Amino acid sequence: MRSKSTFLMFSLLTPSALCFSFPQTSDITASISNIFNRSGGTKCPAIWTTISLDLTKSFLANGQCTDLARAAIRYAFHDAGTFSLKLPFTAPAAGGADGSLLLNPTEISRPENNGLQDYNKFIGDKFTLYKPQGVGAADLIYFAGNHAVVTCPGGPSVKTVIGRTDSSTASPTGVMPPGFGPGSDHDSLLKLFVDKGFSAEDLAALVGAHSTSKNIAETAIPVGASQDSTPGVWDVKFYAETYNPPQGVVRFDSDIALSNKSTAVGKKFAGFVDGQGKWTGKFADAMYRLSVLGVPSGTAKNFVECTDALPKAVSVKRDIRGAAINARAV
Ligand code: HEM
Ligand SMILES: *[C@@H]1O[C@H](CO)[C@@H](O)[C@H](O)[C@H]1NC(C)=O
Ligand SMILES: *[C@@H]1O[C@H](CO)[C@@H](O)[C@H](O)[C@H]1NC(C)=O
Repeated sequence: MRSKSTFLMFSLLTPSALCFSFPQTSDITASISNIFNRSGGTKCPAIWTTISLDLTKSFLANGQCTDLARAAIRYAFHDAGTFSLKLPFTAPAAGGADGSLLLNPTEISRPENNGLQDYNKFIGDKFTLYKPQGVGAADLIYFAGNHAVVTCPGGPSVKTVIGRTDSSTASPTGVMPPGFGPGSDHDSLLKLFVDKGFSAEDLAALVGAHSTSKNIAETAIPVGASQDSTPGVWDVKFYAETYNPPQGVVRFDSDIALSNKSTAVGKKFAGFVDGQGKWTGKFADAMYRLSVLGVPSGTAKNFVECTDALPKAVSVKRDIRGAAINARAV
């Protein structure tokens, strides 16, 4: 429905021509998506397009994704990740994708959320701004996380849905993975993720988010050090560089453990080295499931799809060629 040539044609138009032509195309896109009814028969509310443009201002700089963008990705994981199938279900999402990281002030103070405080303020201000227009905290957290992923050059467009019920009840403790020390070994980490409903391959794909990571608050390693040599880009260098870190790249003990080729996760981890297409596909699938973690499937199937409100994906190759040399440094 949106052919490559149509897209190219639009990119060649002048801004004023774009304004003139675009509404027609989006109307067509909307009616096609209603025929397929993939969003439960409801159109994505227009406010998400406004939010998307707003977030781009903070998530994209010099053709790369920013510190706020990487924090947005981690923040989405830290809101949803506090879910375990081993714990009793409590509505709406058993501590999973429920917005409680933003809505319950005790959660951001937990040690595992160190480094996320600036983003907590940023996204809290956005929530205050957009809440009067019907925007939920949990929806905003996953929309922003997926926006950040696709804003990093090379990042996939993760299926993005709206409709979650928020909760300000503090999520369970003791179910987030440590990067260092006890519990940062392969078997403990895999068990933790299996208890959230993820496979070894899901875990190997999800930690690839460290492609865009910098250490903010861990004291075991230098502050500001990145986990691959191109933290502004969504590429697979993280996988190769966890085996052979170049100067300036500092690894988490958890990532070293998960890369061990004689383990279940490590076999999948090794399979993503030089596998950009394979990785982004597996990541996008797992990240969508993360974004509805704990939400009963009967509820999630009625959520409205807003993927089209995200920015369009940008090729990683094009960007690296175009990037300034200093943009590639730590
Ligand atoms: C075994 C699982 C995981 C462990 C042990 C882990 C651990 C860590 C640690 C220790 C940091 C540095 C925190 C700091 O700045 O102080 C970090 C950062 C980060 N993590 Fe993870 N993580 C895991 C999984 C994930 C997943 C599933 C995602 C997202 C899908 C993710 C996304 C990120 C991002 C984007 C950052 C960088 C944040 C920033 O630069 O501000 N991580 N992680
Ligand atoms: C589209 O989804 C809505 C809500 O789930 C449903 O009521 C409606 O019957 C569906 N329409 C079609 C054509 O399947
Ligand atoms: C890798 O995992 C295997 C199997 O669990 C283990 O025996 C070995 O010690 C690990 N290697 C390293 C370097 O940790």
